[in-house]
Amino acid sequence: MSDEGYYDKALEMEVYPHLRVVLDMVDTSLPRIAVDAGCGVGRDALFLVEQGYVVHAYDKSDVAMARLREMAGKVCGETLFPEVSSFEAFDYPKSSLISACSSLFFCDPGVFPFAWEKIARSLMRGGIFCGHFMGPNDSWARMERGDLTIFDRAELGRLFDRDFHVIDIHENDAAGVTLLGAKKHWHTYSVVARKNT
Ligand SMILES: C[S@@+](CC[C@H](N)C(=O)[O-])C[C@H]1O[C@@H](n2cnc3c(N)ncnc32)[C@H](O)[C@@H]1O
Repeated sequence: MSDEGYYDKALEMEVYPHLRVVLDMVDTSLPRIAVDAGCGVGRDALFLVEQGYVVHAYDKSDVAMARLREMAGKVCGETLFPEVSSFEAFDYPKSSLISACSSLFFCDPGVFPFAWEKIARSLMRGGIFCGHFMGPNDSWARMERGDLTIFDRAELGRLFDRDFHVIDIHENDAAGVTLLGAKKHWHTYSVVARKNT
């Protein structure tokens, strides 16, 4: 299936469920500025714009960003700022909410620590991170491809230890399918955490 076909499917999906929940958790004294990291075609980014956020959304795919710009119409450049970029290269603004739905595990493990440092620094005290990480039982992790960032539960705890209070971790360790219907074993952690430094 083409990139366009993949992104059509992504738009049919519900907004990332944790993202709906965290809207009530963000410190209301903070400016409503969000980052959607690895936003794909921007389903969640557009949702956040509807919720009154100024959203900086990036993805390494120029096809996805072109599609998002087209869909966003007049909000593009006003409350939505799409950019072709990567986890490590993006110039993160000071933000109160960072969403990374099914994206961060695609970060090259060699640059993940640097990218994570930028993400953590971007969030203001009281801001919320919500996103997925991939665990070691995932069939992609077991392939030892070397291009995915994988965390076991203990490593994930240490990732958030210094700067965050973890509010919720939802683990999914089960057979499933990809967006395009291919069977695979998923092992992911969906994390919600509040920045406390
Ligand atoms: C599974 S899709 C999720 C997209 C979107 N967050 C969603 O939930 O629909 C993963 C996205 O991560 C993007 N991606 C992969 N590696 C990336 C990188 N190094 N920097 C930025 N985006 C990346 C891909 O282009 C893809 O759009």
